[in-house]
Amino acid sequence: MVVKRYIITLAYGALSEAELEAYSTLLNLDYLVLGRVGRCCIIEVEMLPQQTWLELGGLHKVAEVFAEVKSDEINRLNLEALTALTDKMKWAVSTYSESRSSALKFSEDLRESIKEYLKGRGVVKTKLLRGKIRKVDSNWEYEVSSQLLQKEHVIEDGFEVVAVKLKSWLVGKTVAVVDHIGYRQRDLERPIQDPTITIPPKLARILVNLTACKKGETLLDPFCGLGTILGEAAIRGLNVIGVDAEPSRVEGARKNLRWLLEKYGIRDASVELFQGYAENLNRILKRRVVDGVATEPILLPPLKHLPTEQEAKRMLERSSAIYYKSLPSISRHLKTGGRLAIVLPCVKSRSRRILSFDISREASKVGLRLYPLKSVKKYPLLIEDPSQRVMRGIHLFEKVFG
Ligand SMILES: C[S@@+](CC[C@H](N)C(=O)[O-])C[C@H]1O[C@@H](n2cnc3c(N)ncnc32)[C@H](O)[C@@H]1O
Repeated sequence: MVVKRYIITLAYGALSEAELEAYSTLLNLDYLVLGRVGRCCIIEVEMLPQQTWLELGGLHKVAEVFAEVKSDEINRLNLEALTALTDKMKWAVSTYSESRSSALKFSEDLRESIKEYLKGRGVVKTKLLRGKIRKVDSNWEYEVSSQLLQKEHVIEDGFEVVAVKLKSWLVGKTVAVVDHIGYRQRDLERPIQDPTITIPPKLARILVNLTACKKGETLLDPFCGLGTILGEAAIRGLNVIGVDAEPSRVEGARKNLRWLLEKYGIRDASVELFQGYAENLNRILKRRVVDGVATEPILLPPLKHLPTEQEAKRMLERSSAIYYKSLPSISRHLKTGGRLAIVLPCVKSRSRRILSFDISREASKVGLRLYPLKSVKKYPLLIEDPSQRVMRGIHLFEKVFG
């Protein structure tokens, strides 16, 4: 087995790490976290094909480490890993560090070394993509975005070198970039759309991966809306069951899934859609159990102003009822050992506190306990966006009895 170090640029922080961990249990992969710098997580794991990385919804890009150098040793950097060099190719450099000056300085040094290396191989007419320096949390990155890398086909027709400063600089070549274009098409080109209820497809993919369902297993979304989660599950090779109270949503999901299966040439997925209520799944599913559940029962509308704590609590209390009512039925139809990935609304109040409600006690009464992932310090895993007043928080449960 060949072991490699990878620099992974995460899109959703702790949630992305949880996805990585959950997905690695599905593949029976053990990995070691070597460190974190800003949005980058550096891991050591057996060598993985590009396709494995592309299954994950919470990454921007992944680079395979080929060298390690100190800041002042850049002239010792061996760039032989950069192969298939041709004129007109596009290339880029991104650096991540705890300080602005070191991120900028190392990116400049890297660019100079690469230019020299290319010149030495007779490759002179190349296009260098420029990045941007910015602070993310308390770290700095000089980054060429994964959107630009995909748009310019840099991985296919050129290369990106990524460097992260731990004790020394780890230098890698980007091997996978998330398929932003595919996710955007699935969001904005499907026949039936309603942004007021739908979850972004990347988040839907993360929820599916958190359940760690294997190809051929069955995933249920008992609040399926227009079928975003079901679509991401079908692309991952799962069979899907969707339930929604609104007949028009079930019809919308049907049209969307038909479109998606055709677009991706998926022929072997079983898709079952029903009008019905999450609290009465037995009317539809009878005695059937599923391998995993991923769902978002409530998406609160955007708020015009920050609510007082009391207003926020009232809003959340109204939403919580549907969770408490449907948990027993969801648990009854989940196999023992199966997982439930569920989104809860979280609201930022005027005092800047983020409020939600706790479903773990009710869940434990029906055999669901919070799933202990090593990377998760506490649930909910929050998708934080400072500009948003309403946020999503994600819980992952495992059915342990019942
Ligand atoms: C936030 S949306 C889910 C959106 C879905 N994830 C998507 O991307 O299209 C919640 C859905 O739950 C449905 N719903 C509300 N109460 C329900 C219930 N008791 N049982 C089943 N579905 C319900 C609504 O009709 C709505 O379509």
